[in-house]
Amino acid sequence: MSENEPRVIVALDYPREDAAWRLIDRIQGDLCRLKIGKEMFTRLGPGFVEKVIARGFEVFLDLKYHDIPNTVAAACDAAADLGVWMMNVHASGGRRMMHTAVERLAQRAHRPLLIGVTVLTSLSEAELNEIGFPGSPEQNVARLAALAKDAGLDGVVCSPREAASLREASGDDFLLVTPGVRPASASLDDQTRVMTPGDAIRAGSSYLVVGRPITAADDPLAALHAINAEIQAVLS
Ligand code: C5P
Repeated sequence: MSENEPRVIVALDYPREDAAWRLIDRIQGDLCRLKIGKEMFTRLGPGFVEKVIARGFEVFLDLKYHDIPNTVAAACDAAADLGVWMMNVHASGGRRMMHTAVERLAQRAHRPLLIGVTVLTSLSEAELNEIGFPGSPEQNVARLAALAKDAGLDGVVCSPREAASLREASGDDFLLVTPGVRPASASLDDQTRVMTPGDAIRAGSSYLVVGRPITAADDPLAALHAINAEIQAVLS
């Protein structure tokens, strides 16, 4: 990670392509990265990803692959062919699934970043236990993050509330990508356990995934600039 690179990843969560372009047309690739998830990818396909990249943005393709090792590795290879900057897999797919994907991507001259999803933050402890993961969400996050690191992944997606302990456990080079970020003045929307951009960076977050505080703002560019300024104030 370089000092001056953008730390914000804007979540492009729109049901329609024209709404996404209304935002993209107002921002620039040196201010943020863009996250394309299951909704937009399923509606618009890989062509949309390629168009966004051609417009000068680095893209986090958030498709959270989880399948047998060969299938996940092939999907990661296909995502890398699109030219994405970052992609992710479920750490609960296991060490061999993650490691096979890492090895496949390592064959490329320019390897995208591969990030693990530990425990979905929507799962309660009871739901987690019901699907066969004993212990608290925090214990499972710590265990799966360690497994992801051991399997060679570049980092994990986590809540900013988990960033400080994961940073301590996993060292400086492991990437922590954190959604659940809200500027002090912004609406919480449906997020409950949030942190401000400055506090998330202080806690050890590498990249902040921010959606509605930017995408639903009257002036998305101003909202993005304000978040970047808050981050820079912590970093400098
Ligand atoms: O609009 P908002 O800032 O809440 O968007 C956050 C983005 O991060 C959304 O794309 C959401 O799906 C994603 N995300 C999240 N919490 C997680 C994992 C992903 O909010 N635990």
